[in-house]
Amino acid sequence: MRKPLIAGNWKMYKTISEAIILANGIKREMVDFTSSDIVLCPPFTALNSVYEIIMDTPIKLGAQDIAWEKEGAFTGEVSSVMLKDCGCEFVIIGHSERRKYFGETDEIVNKKIRAALSGSLIPIVCIGESLKERESNLTIEVVKKQLKGGLRELTDEQISKIIIAYEPVWAIGTGKTATPLQAEEVHCFIRKWIEEVFSSKIAENLRILYGGSVKPSNIKELMVQDDIDGALVGGASLKVESFAEIVKNAV
Ligand code: PGA
Repeated sequence: MRKPLIAGNWKMYKTISEAIILANGIKREMVDFTSSDIVLCPPFTALNSVYEIIMDTPIKLGAQDIAWEKEGAFTGEVSSVMLKDCGCEFVIIGHSERRKYFGETDEIVNKKIRAALSGSLIPIVCIGESLKERESNLTIEVVKKQLKGGLRELTDEQISKIIIAYEPVWAIGTGKTATPLQAEEVHCFIRKWIEEVFSSKIAENLRILYGGSVKPSNIKELMVQDDIDGALVGGASLKVESFAEIVKNAV
């Protein structure tokens, strides 16, 4: 049985004081909730303040990015050691916004996954096609290429620790969600691919999240799909009410 996981990607929102208010609100609503894993991913600057609020609860902390090196002269970067030091257990890697605005390639994603795993962080690896690619019937091809490149030469042991988030780029922040069947088709493909390349046991245990305009009103129909194990939530994770409702509706 795969335990559902709902992660809130706060993106570049919330100052430290705003993050504290939001985290306290989520804690109040969700402190006894254990049917799903809940992960909050605030910006770097608020990681430790949020950790101090949730550290004695089942709610977990994640970062939105990671450096591929452990330390060194890499101005502006934040390493796995530093993320662990802030209380992180998870890290989002290869989000489409990082790919689009910061030039992250599958090769970089692969290096970051390795850095996260060797620093004992659980990577949430994002993949997904653009609208143009979907309209040209390239969805599966694009997703396969991202899987092949991003997960290149990882061992069975490494793969068994990761989480994948399928996030069609055209559904992120647009209010347009993939239909449950559109999402399930890709999730099912991802699981089959993992089964072929790694093993059926790994595929069976792999958690695949859906992301892209997840709201309290659409999470149920997504979660009833066989291969959807949770959600990576952007906009709707910035308010206590909508995030708490998503978490509750997901089970
Ligand atoms: P959204 O973002 O929920 O605002 O569409 C999801 C994401 O970017 O992870």
